[in-house]
Amino acid sequence: MRRPLVAGNWKMHGTRASVAELINGLRRQVLPADVEVAVFPSCLHIVQVLEGLADRVAEVGAQDCAADPAQGALTGEVAASQLQDAGCTLVLVGHSERRLLLGETDADVVRKFAAAQSCGLIPLLCVGETLEQRESGKTLEVVGAQLASVVDVLGIDVFARAVVAYEPVWAIGSGLTASPEQAQQVHAAIRAQLAAHSAEVACTVRILYGGSVKAANAAELFGMPDIDGGLVGGASLNADEFGAICRAAGS
Ligand code: 13P
Repeated sequence: MRRPLVAGNWKMHGTRASVAELINGLRRQVLPADVEVAVFPSCLHIVQVLEGLADRVAEVGAQDCAADPAQGALTGEVAASQLQDAGCTLVLVGHSERRLLLGETDADVVRKFAAAQSCGLIPLLCVGETLEQRESGKTLEVVGAQLASVVDVLGIDVFARAVVAYEPVWAIGSGLTASPEQAQQVHAAIRAQLAAHSAEVACTVRILYGGSVKAANAAELFGMPDIDGGLVGGASLNADEFGAICRAAGS
């Protein structure tokens, strides 16, 4: 059985005051014991959140890491080893906002994935197609290539210590959610692609859906056989809404 994971990606949001409020809101939530919960604050607020959630109401992760795991002369970057030292347990890699707006390539994503694991962090690999790619029937090809870029270089076994998030670009922050059937089709394809290398890894890896997940649509999405939870953007900035999404992932 795969333990569901609900992850909140706070993106470039938050001030010390609003983050403190969100921490208090999260601490008030009744969260299901059978669901793993994680939040990804901006780098600036990671320590504040780690301290505020010190009794591990939720895991804390970073939204990105440098491609090189070690500390060094690289202005503005944060190394996976520094994230691990701070107390993070997870890190997002390959979010579409970084791929599309900041020019991150598959090769960069592979290096970040490896850097994270070399420091004991769990990488959460984000994949997904644009609207244009979906409309031209290329969804599975695009997502398959993003996934293959990691499998081909690092092998299949790295997915025993990783999470995959399918986030269709057209559904992110748009209010448009993939239907449960649309999402399930891609999740099943991702799992089948991994199963071609290792049935065991494919069966245990968690594949999250992201893209306008909210309390009102979470249960339907999480009810699909290959959807093991969610990567939530906007709705994770509201503790009550995020708590309801976490509860929707519980049994
Ligand atoms: P929204 O939930 O705001 O659509 O964002 C999804 C996302 O990009 C999470 O990483």
